[in-house]
Amino acid sequence: MVRRSEFGSRLRTIREGREIGIRTLSSRLQVSHTYISHIEAGRVIPSEEFIVKAASILKADPNELLLIAGRVPAKILAYARSHPKETLSLFRESKSYRPFRSQQAPDTQLAFQVVSSHPSHGVLDSKTGDFEMIHADCLEWISGQPEASFEAIVTDPPYGLIEYDIENLVKLKNGRGGIWRIPPSLGGHTRRPVPRFTVHTEDDRRRMESFFRGWGKLAFQILVPGGHLVIASNSLMTRHVFPALLDSGFEMRGEIARVVRTLRGGDRPKGAEKEFVEVSVLPRACWEPWGLFRKPLEGTVAENLRKWKTGALRRPSGEQPFVDLIPSERTPAAEKKIAPHPSLKPLFFMIQIVRAILPLGVGRILDPFAGAGTTLAAAALVGYRSVGIEINKEYYELARLAIPRLIEYGRRKYGTG
Ligand SMILES: C[S@@+](CC[C@H](N)C(=O)[O-])C[C@H]1O[C@@H](n2cnc3c(N)ncnc32)[C@H](O)[C@@H]1O
Repeated sequence: MVRRSEFGSRLRTIREGREIGIRTLSSRLQVSHTYISHIEAGRVIPSEEFIVKAASILKADPNELLLIAGRVPAKILAYARSHPKETLSLFRESKSYRPFRSQQAPDTQLAFQVVSSHPSHGVLDSKTGDFEMIHADCLEWISGQPEASFEAIVTDPPYGLIEYDIENLVKLKNGRGGIWRIPPSLGGHTRRPVPRFTVHTEDDRRRMESFFRGWGKLAFQILVPGGHLVIASNSLMTRHVFPALLDSGFEMRGEIARVVRTLRGGDRPKGAEKEFVEVSVLPRACWEPWGLFRKPLEGTVAENLRKWKTGALRRPSGEQPFVDLIPSERTPAAEKKIAPHPSLKPLFFMIQIVRAILPLGVGRILDPFAGAGTTLAAAALVGYRSVGIEINKEYYELARLAIPRLIEYGRRKYGTG
């Protein structure tokens, strides 16, 4: 895992050495000063383009900063592609890039892909109909957007912020270790890996709370008054994530229970399954809490609805209110085939959430952690506009291909759109 704090403190040292204030640097980089504070506090690593631009303003060596940030400078990457063996041994010596120091022969190609493809700031590469998929770090992207520019946010973040970092993705690809738990196969069938939230250390948890406090402030800024935020979670994570969102200014509006029989929990003690046949270490999770938050209203609900088109939830029909318990299935195999992302959410469940989040069916939805783009496909199916941000190039490319196919599949299966 890249040491964000190392990069942040190096940036701060250089900036202070040049006697440049956070606000001056942020205005020259055209991002908010909060974003620079996040970087310096070690909560986020910016994109390659951002680092190069910051280095030029601070008159610092861009290659040094890129390496500390875990980004491979373009020249080194070109060399690495033509001299893979030499580069590997070079990286094994390196203190700034941990995946290459692993003795377990990680998949260097994957590591390279993930590192080298880090997004440039707010690149808008694909626009298809009513949705836009953007390859960027959502913190950086949101901080460059005007305030009050979205009516809702629906998202499924990387709960622990470490399951999608390079080291853990390499472990996922290699099929062992890290935060990705590979469940024992059932009746000869290999089961899908799930993130193992119990491996978080106290430090990871504190980092996560601080990340969501900062992320929440940006989410708050980008929403119009009365705009809702729906955020996927699980029962081990809510106590870290939800208070951080309240600190960012949101009001809690409840929790939506996605009732689903997951493969999380319920196992016997590892290595002693036969000895403790009647024991489960954790309960088998049969529901997922999705937090429902709202940016405070301007005036009454009716006034806010008239002015901003937000502040409430859309009913499934005139007679039925939106309810906070939604029976769901595990993501169907057909959807996983279209969009093989390790955390793909089921389209039908997303359709119900997304539809409810714009009370008058007017406005734009943002998914800042878009993955393979299920939120965007669901939005298109109910006729809403949406924008998705994805940091990982592989997943971003996957989403661009998968969203139109998920929409097509959704039309056939659910008759929406
Ligand atoms: C839990 S997955 C979302 C899966 C999605 N709900 C779907 O059905 O495909 C979270 C995604 O957030 C992405 N991500 C992590 N940090 C990010 C960041 N700072 N900006 C944008 N995307 C990020 C990860 O690469 C991952 O694909």
